[in-house]
Amino acid sequence: MLRVGYPAILDQQLLSVMPEGIELVPLPDGLDHAIEIDVWIPDPYSTRALRVWPHLRGVRLVLSLMAGTEWIPRTVGPHVTICNARGAHNISTAEWTLTAILSMLKFLPLYMDIQRSGDWRRRSEATLAYQHLTHDGRPYHPPVKLEELTGKTVLLVGYGEIGKEIERLLAPFRVDIIRVARTLRTAPPVHTVNELDELLPRADVIVLILPLTAESKGLIGPRQFASMRQGALLINAARGGIVQTDALVDALNAGRIRAALDVTDPEPLPVDHPLWRCPNLLITPHIGGSSPQFDARSLQVAADELRRYMNGEPLKNVVQAAT
Ligand SMILES: NC(=O)c1ccc[n+]([C@@H]2O[C@H](COP(=O)([O-])OP(=O)(O)OC[C@H]3O[C@@H](n4cnc5c(N)ncnc54)[C@H](OP(=O)(O)O)[C@@H]3O)[C@@H](O)[C@H]2O)c1
Repeated sequence: MLRVGYPAILDQQLLSVMPEGIELVPLPDGLDHAIEIDVWIPDPYSTRALRVWPHLRGVRLVLSLMAGTEWIPRTVGPHVTICNARGAHNISTAEWTLTAILSMLKFLPLYMDIQRSGDWRRRSEATLAYQHLTHDGRPYHPPVKLEELTGKTVLLVGYGEIGKEIERLLAPFRVDIIRVARTLRTAPPVHTVNELDELLPRADVIVLILPLTAESKGLIGPRQFASMRQGALLINAARGGIVQTDALVDALNAGRIRAALDVTDPEPLPVDHPLWRCPNLLITPHIGGSSPQFDARSLQVAADELRRYMNGEPLKNVVQAAT
């Protein structure tokens, strides 16, 4: 019988979606002896999973409950197939992205500061922030206190499961969308990442929603920041390492761009890191994929993949095929 190891911390009820004909093996965080299993569902927190891994024997398939799986190949080696939970984070991460875009365009982080200071008159600071960021000094009357998303151009860098969900949520705002991925497509048009530098100057909002790989590491650096429109909004919902942090800090401090980051490099961001003090920046501590619905969704993805594995059908979410 196929032995499937899972983090003992998981709510037992959620495991009812698992196929019949398997033996479920709980793996406690403090596991201290060798255990033979065929399939490993690692703890979503890599630090806990890494404590368990040295005790596992016989693993042939890893079913990650997360979309990002960077740490797994180098841990389990090339002879193990790895699948991710593609799809489980779509809604939460896409909603975080929309929230981040709207919050920044409406200057909500600034208004939160103003609320805390209890000083209504400080609302004029929003006009200054707008003028400073966009270099738009026209004498609007009444003055600009927030911006609109409607009509803006949004560049999606990464057009996979989450990128498409973001596009779906953006639809009511009648934005122009430019899509970028690895592979060229025509319906809808998707540019290749080789065209990124030419596309950046067209975007008001740039959303990073692609995996961190050898190719995407440091993709956004000094040249890309220089190509962005004055006051462009960079959203990183993907992985911190896709952006060169020093260049990001420089671009923010120079007032060139604004940004909202759910992910940073390094992570966790040390308490004295210069990013914390950059202007026009919203940081959330890597929570974009989180939601009360997440456990059930990701286990359903894993259960479906396990069913395919047991039936000898092609797997859907392979990020590494065993060699
Ligand atoms: N903030 C969070 O909490 C959170 C939550 C979930 C996911 N994420 C991150 O979001 C990423 C995307 O998730 P997903 O489910 O949408 O993945 P996905 O369905 O696998 O789609 C990935 C997209 O990125 C594109 N891509 C891959 N490498 C690229 C490169 N070097 N340059 C340009 N585009 C590239 C792919 O291109 P092709 O279509 O041509 O293959 C695809 O369109 C994950 O890998 C994870 O790191 C973050």
